[in-house]
Amino acid sequence: MASALPAFTLERNPQPVAIAERAKLLADPGFGRVFTDHMAIVRYTEGKGWHDARIAPRKPIALDPASAVLHYAQEIFEGLKAYRLADGTMAMFRPDANARRFNQSAERLAMPKLPEETFLESIRQLVRVDRDWFPTVEGGSLYIRPFMFANEVFLGVKPSAEYLYLVIISPVGGYFKSGASAVSIWVSQSYTRAAPGGTGAAKCGGNYAASLVAQAEASRHGCDQVVFLDAASHKWVEELGGMNVFFAFDDGSLQTPPLSGTILPGITRDSLMTLARAEGLTVREEPYSIDQWRADAASGRLTEAFACGTAAVVTPIGTVKSPEGEFKMGTGGPGQTTMRIKQKLVDIQHGIAPDPHGWVSRID
Ligand code: PLP
Ligand code: COI
Repeated sequence: MASALPAFTLERNPQPVAIAERAKLLADPGFGRVFTDHMAIVRYTEGKGWHDARIAPRKPIALDPASAVLHYAQEIFEGLKAYRLADGTMAMFRPDANARRFNQSAERLAMPKLPEETFLESIRQLVRVDRDWFPTVEGGSLYIRPFMFANEVFLGVKPSAEYLYLVIISPVGGYFKSGASAVSIWVSQSYTRAAPGGTGAAKCGGNYAASLVAQAEASRHGCDQVVFLDAASHKWVEELGGMNVFFAFDDGSLQTPPLSGTILPGITRDSLMTLARAEGLTVREEPYSIDQWRADAASGRLTEAFACGTAAVVTPIGTVKSPEGEFKMGTGGPGQTTMRIKQKLVDIQHGIAPDPHGWVSRID
């Protein structure tokens, strides 16, 4: 039930991080370890709808040990970024798309929908309050993490009658620690991420919990990320643990796996397809098998592959490893198509290039 939109009250943090300490953190924030002074929080109660919307000091939240999320993982989240544009204003990239996807995830997880305007307003207000937290590091941004979880104190298996929606912000630099120009990926053959009819297209915490053992396997093999194959035939490339994947061919075309219901409909994926098509490139949304990937890399037909997502932006894939051995795309470094398309996206996101699709949403 979504009744009238709740208005946010503001309680400022009486003990914000000291300015000198903040400056130190913002010079090299890494990814997901530094957090701002505030958070947004809204409650949902069955019969009452969304209420008690607040911007409050960021602090631990108390949960009853029987809170439903701790047992049955009814939880969803989003990830989007805010940038300081070339002209000094703050802006988010396609937040309306995240608001829509959040509600698609909510529907799949049997959770209440959050009015899109409440989603957008929670983020705008939080970014305004924490506006002094933009990283000073090159390529830095505010990584915004809205999430919602079941909070009814009940051990019966059913959709919860109570939920909390929160937004936290992490000032970030690059996602990959190595800072390498291209990443290596491990082809998981023992584990799959999602099956038809499952939750693969939803952004729910459970998908990531299920990917961790495969990600750990990737790390053991010296790889940065894991790539999953389809659950039924272990043949078709789906996506990485936290990113979509693209392939670039010697005829200038691009290909990416189709939205079959088992992969996340990435907003970066959608943006890159739009930008590439506007450049006149052919973009196919068609299945691509791991065997074809290996063969095309060997023949030189496939010249580049890259991962894309909010956290990873556009990251070249240099090496692919599996129990059958390893292969490289080209020389294993970043390719020209990848870097050109990345630059196009990043320039729009930072307000350097015009924004013909209306993707940049300014915050006054
Ligand atoms: N696939 C998965 C599993 C992800 O976690 C993400 C990151 O959000 C993506 C793809 C890319 O989605 P987006 O471009 O919307 O960030
Ligand atoms: C994102 O890019 O927003 C994600 O959720 C991916 C995760 C690996 C941080």
